[in-house]
Formats: sequence, structure tokens, C-alpha cells
Amino acid sequence: MLRLHYNLEKLSMALVATIILAASVGGLVEIAPLFTIADTVKMPADLRPYTPLELAGREIFIREGCYACHSQMIRSLGDELDRYGPYSLAAESAYDHPMLWGSKRTGPDLARVGGKYSDAWHVAHLTEPRDVVPASIMPAYPWLLRPLDTGQLSAMLATLARLGVPYDKAMIANAERDALAQSRPDSDGAEAVQLRYGKRVVLRAFDGNPAELTEMDALVAYLQALGTLTQVAYGTQRGDPS
Ligand code: HEC
Repeated sequence: MLRLHYNLEKLSMALVATIILAASVGGLVEIAPLFTIADTVKMPADLRPYTPLELAGREIFIREGCYACHSQMIRSLGDELDRYGPYSLAAESAYDHPMLWGSKRTGPDLARVGGKYSDAWHVAHLTEPRDVVPASIMPAYPWLLRPLDTGQLSAMLATLARLGVPYDKAMIANAERDALAQSRPDSDGAEAVQLRYGKRVVLRAFDGNPAELTEMDALVAYLQALGTLTQVAYGTQRGDPS
């Protein structure tokens, strides 16, 4: 085999042809499965898009660089299933533009962190991680208690709708109102949010203060939604205890 390679290296055109052949086979192996993606990736019937408030939180997650330390992709390895729950399915991030799978884990994976902690825990943790996890090396984000700018939300939903996320006209037109209403469960608009986005949407004053809509509201709403947009991964995987 080595001898063959040695001789091949002396025949430049044959070497070029072999390189092209090897690269083509490698390329095909990577590209070919994408041709059948419509058949292999089934869209779950219960998959919902992010609410405007969760979407605003996702933007803050990206702005603050949280993805640099946190992945959102549970791999199908025993230790990951034990620690994080069912492995991530492609369909679960179908509405994520851009996707935030990541590969760097300075902190834990967050794909299924929704519901794991209380809102108050998240607020305390984001304000000063060491108040709740003494040995934490996560940075503090005390400025998240400032007011949330909702001015771009309608435009953001409209853009995502063009990319195939099922936001309808009413969702786009009411984006700002829905963001405010989701954090005010007792307000008039709160019911409409669940009507548009489904009963599983959580209506709460995420930062503990219903009087003010803050970036903290948005980020915590987003964290609490992670892993809850569809139930498809739960109870379907081998060895899954849930
Ligand atoms: C420099 C790396 C780093 C960055 C940046 C970072 N984190 Fe963390 N994060 C960690 C580490 C380490 C832990 C584990 C210790 C702890 O709980 O504080 C953690 C824990 C967490 C947890 C608890 C996860 C669990 O399952 O226990 C959440 C939620 C979280 N981070 C959210 C965020 C958010 C939101 C941001 C951006 C605003 C962020 N992190 C930015 C390193 C980071």
C-alpha cells in the first residue's frame, strides 16, 4: 500500500486524478443524505415557533455570547442522556435561525434546560452566578434588568416567516403586544398569546416584576422554553426514563 502511494506521488497527473476521486467520494458521503432530508426529518405536529418574548431572549443570548460556553445539542451518548435527557433531534431546531448547536462546553448543554430551574433561580444566577453556584466561573450579567427594546420584533418575525417559520399575519402584527402580555399573565392580551402560540406557552412575570418588561424577562422566557417547543423527543428514545 505504501509502495503504491510512493509510486503514485511520482505520477503527478495520476495523483491529481486520485485526489479528485477521493475528495468526490468524501463529498458525496456528506452531501447525499441532504437530498432525502424532507423524508428523513419529520416535522413534529406539536412543534411551535418561539413567542416574540422568547425570540427577543434568543437575540440577547446571541448578543451576550452565551453560545461561546453553552451548546444546545445533546448527543446520543450514554453519559449525555444520563445528564441532559433525550438526545436532540434535527426537527427540534428547525425554526432556529441561526442554529445554536455549538460544540464548546465551558458550561453545561442548555438544549433541555427549560423547566429545570425556577425563574427566580435564573434571575439570581444571571445577575451573579456565584450567589447560587459558589464555584461558578460564569460571568455575571447584571445589566439584563434594563428595559427590553421591542421595536424590532414585528420585523424579526416577518423575516423568520420568509425563512419558513410559521408566523402568520396576526402574530407579526401583534409581536410587540404579545411580548408584553406574556410577561403579564393578568393582562388583557395574555390569553391571546396562548391562543396564537399554544397552551404550552408559559405566561409569567419572569423577572418577578410584572410592572416592567426587561431583557431579563426575555432571556429567562427563552431559557424556560428550551427543550419544550415539541414533546417529540420525550418517551420515544431507547432507554429514555421519561
Ligand atoms: C465563560 C463561559 C460562560 C458564559 C459566557 C456563559 N456561561 Fe452559563 N455557565 C457557565 C458555567 C461554567 C456554568 C456551570 C456553573 C453554574 O451553574 O454557574 C454555567 C451554567 C449555566 C446555566 C445552568 C445550566 C444547568 O443546567 O445547570 C445556565 C442556565 C446558563 N449558564 C445560562 C447562561 C446564559 C443565558 C449566558 C449568557 C447570558 C451564559 N450562561 C454565559 C459558563 C458560561
